[in-house]
Amino acid sequence: MTAVCIGNVKIKNPFILAPMANFTDLPFRLQCRKYGASLAFTEMMDADGLFHGTYDIEKEFPKAKKDHPVAAQIVGPNPDTMAFSAKLLEKQGADIIDINIGCPSFKLSKKGAGAKLLEDRKRISQIIKVVVGGVKIPVTVKIRAGWDDSKDAVKIAKVVETAGAAAITIHARTGKMGFRGKADWAIIKKIKKAVHIPVIGNGDVTSPKLALEMIEQTGCDLVMIGRAATGNPFIFRECLHYAKYNKFLTSPTSREKRDALLELWNISKKYYEPEFSRFKLYSYGYTKTIPGGKAFRERISQTKNLEELEELINGWFVETDKV
Ligand SMILES: Cc1cc2nc3c(=O)[nH]c(=O)nc-3n(C[C@H](O)[C@H](O)[C@H](O)COP(=O)(O)O)c2cc1C
Repeated sequence: MTAVCIGNVKIKNPFILAPMANFTDLPFRLQCRKYGASLAFTEMMDADGLFHGTYDIEKEFPKAKKDHPVAAQIVGPNPDTMAFSAKLLEKQGADIIDINIGCPSFKLSKKGAGAKLLEDRKRISQIIKVVVGGVKIPVTVKIRAGWDDSKDAVKIAKVVETAGAAAITIHARTGKMGFRGKADWAIIKKIKKAVHIPVIGNGDVTSPKLALEMIEQTGCDLVMIGRAATGNPFIFRECLHYAKYNKFLTSPTSREKRDALLELWNISKKYYEPEFSRFKLYSYGYTKTIPGGKAFRERISQTKNLEELEELINGWFVETDKV
């Protein structure tokens, strides 16, 4: 496995953690790194919120020695607030600034941000140029194949490259598709052929085999894993093993999953008080495939606060220890 450089940032293996709102906070990023993720993205941060000070940067993007390399992702329609936020995040320790031109949510589309920007290549170019000009660190861009069809995907990618991006991520669905249908990896291949910056392929990688297939089929430099990593940071270790030995690593045991959930809880506490709703989400993820998981998740859903949730998770610790 050869390392890939995004600007001056060295990415030591091809398997990277996607930006995911409500999931890729500092504790989860640290845990994915432990299992081998070579680069991790923050959740998207609203540039207007950062500009107007309604976002607490210490909470959204706390500094941590081990959280590197890290790409801080920003979203917004306005070049100036995007550049302001990029500078702020650079100062806070980001290694890379990532511009989100892929989120299809109604809230963002309404103000012409996220995937909706795919309809306006001129604005995409403006935003990237201003952000690139405002920071010293590399700037990457995450796009979808288009807003309602993918006919301009390559044109968009070239605009991104020409405007100065150091790498491009392509989630191979249109904005309109949301998460429906299948990611069309042929679009990743076309973009890889058309640009000279590193290409990060994304969409529907749910196993080490598919991660390697994406590289083989599209020629992409890096593979970004999203949903398959939630509740399953082990996927990075599995990808590394498969890439090295061409053999599958055995799946994590229930006990390993339990330990990982407890570890996540402890990492979270080290940095800040875990949020109840977020931790409930995590707990569902880590117990998705374990025997007795359904019953445990029902008990999770009935908890009313952090104390109850903590008690339940610790109780599970004792129960699984007996197994
Ligand atoms: C819960 C959730 C939150 C997401 N949040 C973001 C985000 O903040 N920024 C972004 O660029 N993409 C976001 N995405 C999209 C993912 O980064 C990724 O592009 C998508 O899930 C496809 O990859 P996958 O098939 O590996 O999950 C999110 C996806 C999910 C499921």
